[in-house]
Amino acid sequence: MKKIPMRERVGALREYWYVACTSEDLKVDKPHSSTILETRLVLWRNKQGEVSVLRDRCSHRNVFLSEGKVKKNCIKCPYHGWTFDSEGNCVNVPSEGENGKPFSNRKVERFPVIEQEGLVWVWMGESKEPDPEKKPFPMPFYGVKGWKTYYMVTEFDNGVTHLAENFMDVPHTVFVHEGWFRDRTKKLVKATVERTENSVLVTYDQTEDAIGFAERLLNPKKLPLYHTDNFYMPNNTRVDYVFGNNERGFVITSTSTPVSDFKSQVYTCISYNLGILQPTAKYWLPWYTRQVIEQDVEIMANQGASLQEEEPDFKSTPADTLHLFIESLREWEESGCEGPRPKPMKREMDFWI
Ligand code: FES
Repeated sequence: MKKIPMRERVGALREYWYVACTSEDLKVDKPHSSTILETRLVLWRNKQGEVSVLRDRCSHRNVFLSEGKVKKNCIKCPYHGWTFDSEGNCVNVPSEGENGKPFSNRKVERFPVIEQEGLVWVWMGESKEPDPEKKPFPMPFYGVKGWKTYYMVTEFDNGVTHLAENFMDVPHTVFVHEGWFRDRTKKLVKATVERTENSVLVTYDQTEDAIGFAERLLNPKKLPLYHTDNFYMPNNTRVDYVFGNNERGFVITSTSTPVSDFKSQVYTCISYNLGILQPTAKYWLPWYTRQVIEQDVEIMANQGASLQEEEPDFKSTPADTLHLFIESLREWEESGCEGPRPKPMKREMDFWI
């Protein structure tokens, strides 16, 4: 039976920009392989710094082009030397000698690409030209004075929907990250959850909350903490912790690239302005955030393995409202936007942590 690649099974979810790699990963004249929606891509950067992206599959005998060589902004296949330019045109077939002509049926698919804020984004849509209404997701405070940012790249054994839910889910933090991020205090938390046409916005009434390192190191004056968790279609989450009147803050933004149904590559941007701790944060913050994210890697692998064994059969509480809202938006687009669009709505929820 012919395998249908994920890119052809996800309806309107393919009509977006997805991150293929960080800008740092892409060296001049070195092919780089990345998989999005089960479509393997080859990317390279030319001497002028421009990035090209083609399907990582030679049109001759389907060898991975990413194992070939880049020269003069073209990629040469490692098997018989067919050479493709940055548009995917086959410009040289060595076995045909000087008389070889370019044939359009030898072309390899090319993909639009944008570099933004240190990430390389590829348009996976059906149309060759990106939808101008859809832009790569902006990373908060990137390059803003007083703030610093860094990326973490992490492979997860679970799908994008469940990862987005995990990154927004507060009740799990007192179990999965106990002693690291937030401890159980048996407090009632109230929040407002709003679904718009393409986002899920959660605002917590939680000004006395304390998160692990924040309590001890970041917030000695015990300023009120403002906490919002937002999801933006198709795969972006932004979690803000702001102390006082924007005096200090810590923002975790994740964009999850679907590699396959149960494998995702997550690019997490950590933006921080930690006041007097700012100069030393680069020595301990990346280590701390890596420990926390690895705890999520483990619990997400657990859920991913369970969901591969059996279809989902979820029971929900009011604390799961954001899960249901995220699923409704993604499922509607995955269905090819069949039936009525999920309606914007707002709900109050409360739960104990
Ligand atoms: Fe690529 Fe033959 S397989 S040139």
